[in-house]
Amino acid sequence: MIRMAIPDDADRAIHVIRESIQELCVSDHQENDEVLRMWLENKTAENFLLWLASANQSIFVDEQDGKICAVGGATNSGEITLNYVAPSIRFQGVSKIMLATLEGFLTDSGHNQATLTSTETARRFYYMQGYVDAGAPEFWGKLPGYPMAKLLKRTPRTQGQQ
Ligand SMILES: CC(C)(COP(=O)(O)OP(=O)(O)OC[C@H]1O[C@@H](n2cnc3c(N)ncnc32)[C@H](O)[C@@H]1OP(=O)(O)O)[C@@H](O)C(=O)NCCC(=O)NCCS
Repeated sequence: MIRMAIPDDADRAIHVIRESIQELCVSDHQENDEVLRMWLENKTAENFLLWLASANQSIFVDEQDGKICAVGGATNSGEITLNYVAPSIRFQGVSKIMLATLEGFLTDSGHNQATLTSTETARRFYYMQGYVDAGAPEFWGKLPGYPMAKLLKRTPRTQGQQ
């Protein structure tokens, strides 16, 4: 079940984000301690609460049997900022559902395009979900980021709205 995140989720959601980065994004950080330290530095429960409190960003979690399995986020300006799945449920369809939820949220907010910066790890996933490259790779230290975008289809629910 995907739902809006609440403050009580902070510790469990941050745990998912951190283990997803550490265990799944090896082709990005290449087990470089300095890169991992930089990437994980702001992935704290305190910051999660700040993200939740931000009027500019909406955070979602996937909860199964009381466990948080994935975390997603999108901004009011049409950018997908978070899309992390727990390693134990990788390739079981959760990120596809999370991405569809985030895209639905953006469509409902009046956006006709979603943008994001992909990891190396998730790039193929986003291509398969209809995203295209939207600029040259950007580097945050040694970490590559791939700007991508997708035109969003208007659903019957949003047709007629501006
Ligand atoms: C790649 C990743 C995002 C996919 O999420 P998931 O929940 O495991 O995947 P899902 O089951 O929802 O989707 C499976 C799809 O991933 C793609 N995929 C399959 N194998 C893949 C692989 N080795 N690498 C990347 N994508 C793959 C396919 O498109 C597949 O679709 P299909 O089953 O229709 O063929 C996830 O496993 C991952 O590695 N996350 C790490 C965190 C991250 O980089 N997040 C993105 C931040 S921008």
